[in-house]
Amino acid sequence: MNMDMNKVEAFAGQVVTDIAATFSGVMTNIGHKLGLYKAMAGAGPVSSQQLADMTGTHERYVREWLNNQVAGGYVTHDAANNTYTMPDEHIPVLADDDSPVFLVPALDVASSLWLDEEKISEVFRSGQGMAWSDHHHHLFCGSESLFRPGYKAHLTTSWIRALDGVEEKLRKGVRVADVGCGHGASSIVMAQEYPNSTFYGFDSHPESIEIARQRASDAGLNGNIHFSVAKAKDYNERDFDLICFMDCLHDMGDPVGAARHARQALNEDGTVLLVEPAAGDGIHENINPVSRLYYAASTAVCTPCSISQEVGLALGAQAGEKRLSEVLEEAGFSNTRRATETPFNIILEARC
Ligand SMILES: C[S@@+](CC[C@H](N)C(=O)[O-])C[C@H]1O[C@@H](n2cnc3c(N)ncnc32)[C@H](O)[C@@H]1O
Repeated sequence: MNMDMNKVEAFAGQVVTDIAATFSGVMTNIGHKLGLYKAMAGAGPVSSQQLADMTGTHERYVREWLNNQVAGGYVTHDAANNTYTMPDEHIPVLADDDSPVFLVPALDVASSLWLDEEKISEVFRSGQGMAWSDHHHHLFCGSESLFRPGYKAHLTTSWIRALDGVEEKLRKGVRVADVGCGHGASSIVMAQEYPNSTFYGFDSHPESIEIARQRASDAGLNGNIHFSVAKAKDYNERDFDLICFMDCLHDMGDPVGAARHARQALNEDGTVLLVEPAAGDGIHENINPVSRLYYAASTAVCTPCSISQEVGLALGAQAGEKRLSEVLEEAGFSNTRRATETPFNIILEARC
């Protein structure tokens, strides 16, 4: 073998960076869950003892954690005063749960992949699927917390406004379905913004529906929101003006069947809102950190989820607009267009 040792070294460096990030992901989660980031946000320079006092934690652990944060560039260190500072620009990413770039919950999703590693390896060997419900529960709350800020920031202020004539209908009062609604984050955001409309969230995972009901009740919603356990091809409700699939169509075994069912449940001039992970139409358009993350989630969660169901089409989380439009067209939606996008999502509108 004629190996370029400089390239070996450079690649080893790249992998060390990845492994350091993997170890540090646990530190980031701990910083979030113990309130260390929130305590540092806007506090200016603090010593490790001050941070420990502010958060009811022990200084020696906090000091070691802070040094990991400095090594990763999340926090800065002032050697003269031996104090640590979180730059203001890091607050939306690490310490503000409502910010659209609050990314920490992705680490709960990552932890579920680690905890399910053996089961995931097994489906590689068997070719079988793995249902959503068979994952570690960190996946369910992690996805909810990861997606909710994006829904709060964009769903009613941008995505629905980008659909043809839909916002006016929602303000007047229509029926809306949120299929594969999970813990109901998107349904709740819409129900709060459009009190004259009625929202029906469906999901095949009973535990998620239970939590969605609890979240709606905690939000003080009870009149215009309903959650039911139902598969995407099974709900009987009709007469919808809008049917949403929020980051879930690619998880379904039969996305064509699910979209066809939606078509039958929609009023004549109804709309499908399809929110999917941002992706180009092939691997060469997807060589970036966001796609790398999505391909990993897709391998471990989305693809096995689809294979566990009837048909098992296994679109994957990086299907891209072209493939998604083909699925919608096969289901009878002849007009699909990209309504808008964010760095993390593509938002498609489908009409008959
Ligand atoms: C990635 S989660 C997204 C949840 C939610 N839409 C959100 O954005 O927070 C995918 C959801 O799709 C649901 N799901 C998967 N296949 C389904 C099917 N065939 N029918 C109904 N729900 C399904 C899962 O139970 C899970 O809650």
